[in-house]
Amino acid sequence: MNHILSPSLLAADFARLGEEIHALERAGVDWLHLDVMDGCFVPSLSFGMPLIASLRKQTSLFFDTHLMIREPERYLEAFAEAGADLITVHAETVTHLDRTLRAIKKLGLKAGVALNPATPLSVLDWVLPEADLVLLMTVNPGFGGQKYIPYCDEKIRALRAIADRRGLPLDIQVDGGITLENAERVLKAGANILVAGSAVFGRDTEGQALAFRKILNREEEI
Ligand code: DX5
Ligand code: ZN
Repeated sequence: MNHILSPSLLAADFARLGEEIHALERAGVDWLHLDVMDGCFVPSLSFGMPLIASLRKQTSLFFDTHLMIREPERYLEAFAEAGADLITVHAETVTHLDRTLRAIKKLGLKAGVALNPATPLSVLDWVLPEADLVLLMTVNPGFGGQKYIPYCDEKIRALRAIADRRGLPLDIQVDGGITLENAERVLKAGANILVAGSAVFGRDTEGQALAFRKILNREEEI
């Protein structure tokens, strides 16, 4: 199973986005995590289609688009046009989850489902085969720089066990409070895609991304 780092752009210096992205490319990063917030589903606002469309012209990184917005189904086409490669919607924001996942795939994109820490895995029971990826929030969504919630270790393990039992090669992404210190632990619990914002961007973006890649490569080989 592929082990992937998806740095969250939210923690980058927005005045130097191009440079930050090139630092990630130099470090061999393949994915970029784009946090879209609406000030309604989550308390804060971030960015939307215009920024993503501008970045699309700068890089061929895989755009991992995390929609923390109500009624995301209204914007799927717009995000596809802007350049998203994967669209992840929160189960808490959609009435017709099955329909929404199918709509994302019909646009030719990968489809993900995100769950807040308090949302049970059982919402995935019937749609799991339709999802390319499940994003487990390991903090309450809305801000970068928060602390990892410890009970999430168990939730990651439980989801990996379900996927294995059903023979599904599911990508499990963890998002929130991921650091160089806890990366190995969440990978061992069963995650294979790490989102990290504040632990990557800052003083030495390239060096931090390389340090994460080292841990991911080591765990991938085991
Ligand atoms: C939080 C976002 C995260 C956030 C992660 O709502 O979904 O992607 O940027 O930031 P860190 O890694 O700093 O917790
Ligand atoms: Zn995110």
